[in-house]
Amino acid sequence: MNVIVANDYKEMSQTASQMIEEQITEKPDSVLGLATGGTPLGTYHELIKGYHEGRADYSLLSTINLDEYVGLAPEHPQSYRHFMDQHLFRLINIDLENTHIPFGKTEDLEQECSRYEKVIDQIGPPDLQLLGIGENGHIGFNEPGTSFDSETHIVHLTDSTREANARFFESMEDVPTKAITMGIRSILKSRKIILLASGERKAEAILQLIQWELDEQFPASSLKSHDDITLIVDKDAYKKVQRKG
Ligand code: F6R
Repeated sequence: MNVIVANDYKEMSQTASQMIEEQITEKPDSVLGLATGGTPLGTYHELIKGYHEGRADYSLLSTINLDEYVGLAPEHPQSYRHFMDQHLFRLINIDLENTHIPFGKTEDLEQECSRYEKVIDQIGPPDLQLLGIGENGHIGFNEPGTSFDSETHIVHLTDSTREANARFFESMEDVPTKAITMGIRSILKSRKIILLASGERKAEAILQLIQWELDEQFPASSLKSHDDITLIVDKDAYKKVQRKG
C-alpha cells in the first residue's frame, strides 16, 4: 500500500485530483469509479478548476458511482445522483449518459442490483476507483460483516452510518435506512484504487486499516488484497499511525 501524507485537506484533494488528471490524460476514455460524501468534495472542486484551466477533457470519460440511497429519486436533493450532478458532472464536459449511479427509486431492488453489476462488467471495471472510508471502516456502504465476495447488493445502514450522514438531512427520520452499494468484490475489480481520508474523525479507521489483516469486520481491510492501492490522508487522519510509529 502506497501512503501519501498531505499537510491538510486542500493538499490531499490536490494530490488526488492530479492523479485523476494524469489517468485521464493517459487514457481519455478511462472509467472512473467515484464516491460521494464530504471527503471527495475538495477533489471534485480541484477537478472542476483543472477543467477550466484546460488540464483535462472529460468528453470521453465514463464514471461508475459506488452507491445510492434506496427510496430517493435522482432529483431528490440528498440523492447521490443529485450530489454528483451538482458537485461535478454538470460543471465539467462529461456526457451525463456516461455517468452511472444505481437507481434508488426502483420497484425491484434485486433486479437493480444485477443490472448495476452488469454495468460494472460491461463498462468497467474502473481504471481508477476513488474511495472514502467510514469511521467503522466501511467502503461504499459495505458495513462491517459484509462478505469480501459481495457484488452489488442492498444494505441496511447501521445507526452509526445514518447518524454520520444525518448532517445532510433535515432530521434523523429523513435519513434512508437502506442503500444499494457496489460490493467489496465489485470494488476490488478496479485496476487502481485511491482511498482518501481527512481529519481526526478518521484517525482510528486509518490506524486500523494500516494495522489490521484481512477481516470482514473491517471492510476497508479488504483493500490489502489489491496490488495498486494509494492511501492519501491528511496529517490529522494519520495522527494515530504516526503516534504508534
Ligand atoms: C459514499 C461512500 C461512503 C463514504 C464514507 C465517508 O459514496 O461510499 O463510503 O466514502 O461514508 O464519508 P465522508 O466522506 O462523508 O466522511
